[in-house]
Amino acid sequence: MIASSQSPLSGSRLPIIAIDGPSGVGKSTLSKLLAQELGFVNLDTGAMYRAVALAASRRGIDPDDAVALGRLANKVVIDFARNSGSERVLLDGEDVSAAIRTPEISLLTSKVSACPTVREALVRRQRELCIQGGFVLEGRDIGTVVFPDADIKFFLVATAEERGRRRFLELRAKGVPVDLAKTVAEVEARDAADSGRTHSPLRRAADAVAIDTTACGIDQVLAKMLHLVRSRQAAAVAGRE
Ligand code: DC
Repeated sequence: MIASSQSPLSGSRLPIIAIDGPSGVGKSTLSKLLAQELGFVNLDTGAMYRAVALAASRRGIDPDDAVALGRLANKVVIDFARNSGSERVLLDGEDVSAAIRTPEISLLTSKVSACPTVREALVRRQRELCIQGGFVLEGRDIGTVVFPDADIKFFLVATAEERGRRRFLELRAKGVPVDLAKTVAEVEARDAADSGRTHSPLRRAADAVAIDTTACGIDQVLAKMLHLVRSRQAAAVAGRE
């Protein structure tokens, strides 16, 4: 793990910024935008869990077989290809960006991501990938488990009704037949699974800054995040002078 004494907010490693929160809260969009603004790299850790779930499904691995899942999570190669604003997820060299976002794989990922052997393998990779700093990581356990000594931690929240409504509008815009009440219920069920699991449940780190996105646009939330990052950086520089 990276020691906070090496952090450029107080030392020489580039910063690590953690963004956690439930699904549909705006983490992915905000993480990408924040990374862009700061010249950092964005790491979507959810995509890594999704890629392992897809690999397990293709190989017919039982989602209750922790040994096989752990072996798989240690073996598959997950890469991110970034070109001209779009980010692609590669599983053993194959572009699986669309395949990991189907409803079936989303459901399976909830299960696979609760498996301790999978979490152990992916947390190790996430720490290795970000060793130099200069990353914005988004997920459920970044500020609590992956980088408990992250320089800045955000915890985004929004009501389940609002997150369900956003998901409903997103699916409807894609022409998918959806029902609002059912979509809200699905969001609530995923919240319960992510927060109620034994290993690394979704929870706010004591030192995370909570931002409620229910009634805020993306620009407003991004401005708040940038303001906090810049004021912390300025305070760290002033503290060293
Ligand atoms: O952020 P997402 O919806 O793509 O995440 C997919 C699933 O992976 C979701 O069920 C939560 C889980 N996840 C996790 O357990 N830990 C993370 N760091 C990221 C995602």
